[in-house]
Amino acid sequence: MNRFPLPFVLVALLSCYGPVAAQSFVANYDETQVPAYELPDPLRTESGQPVDSPQQWEAQRRGEILDLFRSQVFGRSPDPISVEHRIVGTDRQALGGKAIRRDFDVTLRRGDRSLTFAMLVYSPQTDEPVPAFLGLNFQGNHTIEADPAIRITSSWVRARNDGSTAGNQALAAGRGIRSAAWPVEMIIDRGYGLATIYYGDIDPDFDDGFENGIHPLFADWAESVEPGQRWGSIAGWAYGLSRALDVLDSDPRIDGSRVAVIGHSRLGKTSLWAGASDERFKLVISNNSGCGGAALSRRAFGETVGRINTAFPHWFCRNHHRYNENESELPVDHHQLLALIAPRAVYVASASEDLWADPRGEFLACVHADPVYRLLGTDGLGGEAAPEKMPAADQPLLEGSIGYHLRSGGHALTEYDWSQYLTFADRHL
Ligand code: GCU
Repeated sequence: MNRFPLPFVLVALLSCYGPVAAQSFVANYDETQVPAYELPDPLRTESGQPVDSPQQWEAQRRGEILDLFRSQVFGRSPDPISVEHRIVGTDRQALGGKAIRRDFDVTLRRGDRSLTFAMLVYSPQTDEPVPAFLGLNFQGNHTIEADPAIRITSSWVRARNDGSTAGNQALAAGRGIRSAAWPVEMIIDRGYGLATIYYGDIDPDFDDGFENGIHPLFADWAESVEPGQRWGSIAGWAYGLSRALDVLDSDPRIDGSRVAVIGHSRLGKTSLWAGASDERFKLVISNNSGCGGAALSRRAFGETVGRINTAFPHWFCRNHHRYNENESELPVDHHQLLALIAPRAVYVASASEDLWADPRGEFLACVHADPVYRLLGTDGLGGEAAPEKMPAADQPLLEGSIGYHLRSGGHALTEYDWSQYLTFADRHL
């Protein structure tokens, strides 16, 4: 007779893999249960030498950390390729005459394959180039503003039960439904441009073995990369952001040297990776990015490495799965992702009810990135960077080159968040 009933054995076996592990996962939300951990020191080389000059950071240490994030976390991305773009629609009187709205087609071509994504660009009524925010959106460009002239994506979208989609197809009923996350008028009034792209135009967000989206364009190149280090979807989205910056950089209405990359949640993880891997982004904003973004993986608070790789196996590279329930073996942690952005400005925002994203772990990443910012001659977090200095809700830290706030409320990108980003951008762009 079996010692264990068959269903028990099956569940136990399956829980090592895929979906069952995701279902049976229980998040830790108890600070006293956070495991003891030691963070990799951003200011010590892989061979253990102290890094004590900006030159040594630039010439050696930054490259080591960047390479570890490529090989162990996000995967390696191809070198930039040139992009084509054309403007397919212009409204010189958008937002009641305040703004110019342009709708771009941006095309990447390689061999006989190509990928085109739509980029929507708002800019103020001026002929001077303006600083701008660039961010991916979750549901389509038409969802950020209720303007009937904005094209509706034909790419795969997540099916929703609010009438904004029919299966995986976006519908006109979704026009403007995400406008609360994109206060375009406020951004324009402050003198900034805004460029946004539907992330699914770059890579549809489901696990299909990288058959669709941007990855097949580089399939032959990917063959040359060790399988565990091949790029996942986050790296694909970040690559798209860099190609979008290529276009903005050549645009007379936008000042390409003053572009902030912004993203919420999985797209906050993406903006951090875009900003870490492409030094042209002058300011990098992570809104509630959590695990795999600004939060320290070793805390395993809320979402963990194992949970994220199980639920979203396509986001990171395969090597990242080695650290499922094994965070202490990760050769990096996410304070070093922030440090890769130094000395450029970075802003990390958490929300008090968004425990899944580990607000404290996001703040601690800022604290532990601070020494790199200081070494590079900036004032880091502004005041004293210490774990006990985590600000209370709605008390933003805006003085240094690392900005941080804990907004009261849940997981979202809100007008409150944007108003802090605009103030911070006024100082850094
Ligand atoms: C899930 C996921 C998070 C992610 C979030 C989002 O909650 O677990 O890691 O940030 O989706 O992108 O909305």
